[in-house]
Amino acid sequence: IADIKGGPDEGLNRVGQTLVVMGWVRTLRVQSSVTFIEVNDGSCLSNMQCVMDMEAEGYDQVESGLVATGASIWVQGNVVKSQGSKQKVELNVNKIIVVGKSDPSYPIQKKRVSREFLRTKAHLRPRTNTFGAVARVRNALAYATHKFFQENGFVWVSSPIITASDCEGAGEQFCVTTLIPSSREAADSLVDGIPKTKDGLIDWSQDFFGKPAFLTVSGQLNAETYATALSDVYTFGPTFRAENSNTSRHLAEFWMIEPELAFADLNDDMACATAYLQYVVRHILENCKEDMDFFNTWIEKGIIDRLSNVVDKDFVQLTYTDAIELLLRTNKKFDFPVKWGCDLQSEHERYITEGAFGGCPVIIRDYPKEIKAFYMRQNDDGKTVAAMDMLVPRVGELIGGSQREERLEYLEDRLDDLKLNKDSYWWYLDLRRYGSVPHAGFGLGFERLVQFATGIENIRDAIPFPRAPGSAEF
Ligand code: 4AD
Ligand code: MG
Repeated sequence: IADIKGGPDEGLNRVGQTLVVMGWVRTLRVQSSVTFIEVNDGSCLSNMQCVMDMEAEGYDQVESGLVATGASIWVQGNVVKSQGSKQKVELNVNKIIVVGKSDPSYPIQKKRVSREFLRTKAHLRPRTNTFGAVARVRNALAYATHKFFQENGFVWVSSPIITASDCEGAGEQFCVTTLIPSSREAADSLVDGIPKTKDGLIDWSQDFFGKPAFLTVSGQLNAETYATALSDVYTFGPTFRAENSNTSRHLAEFWMIEPELAFADLNDDMACATAYLQYVVRHILENCKEDMDFFNTWIEKGIIDRLSNVVDKDFVQLTYTDAIELLLRTNKKFDFPVKWGCDLQSEHERYITEGAFGGCPVIIRDYPKEIKAFYMRQNDDGKTVAAMDMLVPRVGELIGGSQREERLEYLEDRLDDLKLNKDSYWWYLDLRRYGSVPHAGFGLGFERLVQFATGIENIRDAIPFPRAPGSAEF
């Protein structure tokens, strides 16, 4: 359907052609002499309006009720100019086949159903306008991500999902458990992969073949090893956080994009983050017009203007210390009191991006070292590290990054200060021992980018199958 309607004349150049359309019935209107079927195949937001009279082959399936909302159909017809004002062309059907009928219990009958309700129907929600559009824009953002980094000479590196290291040191890891049946008999006793009894037939080990292992919270440390060999690299894959938080911007499983730049400092890092965000936003504004118009009308009024501003403007930059002063100066009352050294809460982030700087992305840099991870490079003041967070309206923190501590002795001291076991970081320290270079990188939460780019309020609607407390059904 996108192929037909996607052109500048919305299909008028196809008038007179015979075409086959395969998709799912969105709505059906049976009138005395003609039947209108709106079909969608997911290639775009638009449906193909199929017009059919009783002469069409297979019309009996309309009479018998087989052509119903949710059914999958195959239709063949001629493209004609539409009589209606909603579309330029429609399909004059001469043959219809119901490929798969739809039970009357199909839950998405009504035009508008709530996104909360649709979260309970994760298997069917991609058939709605909103979730179809989100899926296509998410896809376009992923494509633009690879395009941006590839065009700029970055090498894509796959970081592992199972790992022993806790990159962020926040203890928010999921533990990997091995379930090894000790015998054929034990294997047979598994019900849905879980042992029926704990009678000794199963070797339970709370670890990965005898060693502790976790699901990764970030691919950064692995990316650093490749950056100090291949220069600029990036990862793009799933990451996991065992945060038991029910917010509209946290998931237990989310995708992260983590570039790592060699021979680079914090300024290079911020420039890369800015260029990346502008590139992917420009890409969807240019290539996803129909879906973006839909979001502009139905999800967030004015989102196109908001995003257009991002593409054109320089982002605001300020230090953490200046941000704290700004927060202390305002009359606005916060739930969490502000003082130098505190972590910025989402209410503070929102005030900074939405209140103080009127919707422009803001990069805050040079955070107190106490509230940041062990690997960040110490600044000369001894109090702060070369960290940066990019905050955007509605979402808050979209990006977190830093220049990495490339000096062996500083890094060892920091590990000691934090009482982290140096032995388990032996390979990470080796990178500082053999040909260390200044390097920097950042992590961008892909679902938060989807939220930012579509206006979708809840992060659970920005990923096909959200994993958060209470949702791992599908
Ligand atoms: O700020 P974070 O924790 O930084 C890191 O993991 C670094 N190792 C990144 C790096 O420098 N390579 O996470 C980075 C981003 C956040 O800014 C946020 O967008 C996203 O990941 N994020 C989450 N997104 C969804 N659900 C969660 N629970 C998230 N936690 C972080
Ligand atoms: Mg962060």
